Amino acid sequence: MAESYIITLRKGGCGKTTTAVNLSAALGLKGKRVLLVDLDPQANATLSVGIDPISLKHNINDLFTSIDVLPEDVVIKTDFGLDIIPSHPDLAKTEAGMQATQIGVLKGILGPLEEKYDYIIIDTPPSESYLSVAALTYAEFVLIPLQAHFLAIQALTQAMEDVAKVKKGLNPKIQIKGILFTMVNSRTNIAKSVIAEVREKYSQLVFPIEVTFSIKQVEATLAGVPMVLFDPNHQGSIEYKQLAEVILNG
Ligand SMILES: Nc1ncnc2c1ncn2[C@@H]1O[C@H](COP(=O)(O)OP(=O)(O)OP(=O)(O)O)[C@@H](O)[C@H]1O
Ligand SMILES: [Mg+2]
Repeated sequence: MAESYIITLRKGGCGKTTTAVNLSAALGLKGKRVLLVDLDPQANATLSVGIDPISLKHNINDLFTSIDVLPEDVVIKTDFGLDIIPSHPDLAKTEAGMQATQIGVLKGILGPLEEKYDYIIIDTPPSESYLSVAALTYAEFVLIPLQAHFLAIQALTQAMEDVAKVKKGLNPKIQIKGILFTMVNSRTNIAKSVIAEVREKYSQLVFPIEVTFSIKQVEATLAGVPMVLFDPNHQGSIEYKQLAEVILNG
């Protein structure tokens, strides 16, 4: 039975997709069966595993809009030891028409796949959206990627509130697995002070591992290959593999 993780923060460009893709690939490298769910109409996770969303017969949007398309029709096996439910820009139109009554929709979509995987990792959009609330309503665990930047603290507070709200009503079982610092340049004073502040406030919730800033990470994204496979011995790859180890150890 799969454990489900949502990777979320309502702030653009904080490393959600990079974390979702590399955590998925790193868990795959450990022999786990992983399903990466691209719930962002930008389809960045899909592109990050070398798949052009426009070229596909089916994508996640079909699972929201058509009863004739089954989850197994949409899942794609990648070359990177993980399966993906790809996204598509049309998901934005579906999201715009979503209603509060559809907030539990992911259980219907992903429920039939839970037996086939050890981990379901959901990448989400940066904005406040029904899609993110639907993912929070479905998932057991939340992972929050955070850039060591002053503006990030406000987004982190917001994310904590979002989770607390969902926990009180729609999804009592949800838990925050951890806050992950991404794109860290520990030489800067801003990074040092933000990391110290967040570690003091949220102590045990902050992962001991931090992901270092590296231009290799951008190169991997552009190549459509998860960093952990693009350059397995690179510092960033080692850090994401360490994160996978923490997740595996519960
Ligand atoms: N550790 C890193 N070092 C350097 N660049 C990174 C690192 N992690 C991610 N990036 C780059 O930063 C950019 C934003 O990362 P990413 O797409 O993962 O963020 P995101 O939170 O998913 O963005 P969005 O909110 O738009 O979905 C990408 O170009 C990615 O390649
Ligand atoms: Mg993203």
